[in-house]
Amino acid sequence: MLKKDINSYNGFFNEINNNWAILTCGDKFIGSNSMTVSWGGIGYLWDKPVCFVFVRESRHTKKFIDKSDSVTLSFLSDKYKKALAVFGSKSGKDVDKFKETGLHKTFDLDYNGYYVCESDYVLKCKKLFSLDITKDKLPDYIKDDFYKNEDYHTLYVCEIKQYLVNEE
Ligand SMILES: Cc1cc2nc3c(=O)[nH]c(=O)nc-3n(C[C@H](O)[C@H](O)[C@H](O)COP(=O)(O)O)c2cc1C
Repeated sequence: MLKKDINSYNGFFNEINNNWAILTCGDKFIGSNSMTVSWGGIGYLWDKPVCFVFVRESRHTKKFIDKSDSVTLSFLSDKYKKALAVFGSKSGKDVDKFKETGLHKTFDLDYNGYYVCESDYVLKCKKLFSLDITKDKLPDYIKDDFYKNEDYHTLYVCEIKQYLVNEE
């Protein structure tokens, strides 16, 4: 057997980490917010296709994912990397990231959620479960590297209900 770098595996496994995605949470009633994510993954849990994402306490997006079960992951091509950097550095508390980047979101009536129109593909999901990451279960080196500011992540597991592909 040949030993290979796990990052050389092409598929959903490293899609979020390598290409990033825009996580959009919320619905028609509470509104929505979007931010860039690069941690997370796709797999199976409770006999369902799921994605899981990690959202820090400080993110404006967290208020929306906690209040609504509509969650989408929008995957865009490399030409939108600058826009993804804006979605990953500015807060929806302060700016309208869609206005600032020229990206558009669309509301999906059946699903009561939003996704990014310019995406190559979209995962439309419903939140199933969440779990706060707490310091007592983390190795010290992870705490030192990622949580010096005590801004912990919450893990969200979301069932993938639909996979949309832009065929243009
Ligand atoms: C490439 C990239 C990946 C990111 N991944 C995550 C992530 O997985 N989880 C997270 O909480 N923040 C992540 N962030 C940071 C948020 O996207 C960023 O803080 C954003 O401005 C939050 O927006 P909001 O306050 O409107 O929610 C990432 C940022 C970048 C640039």
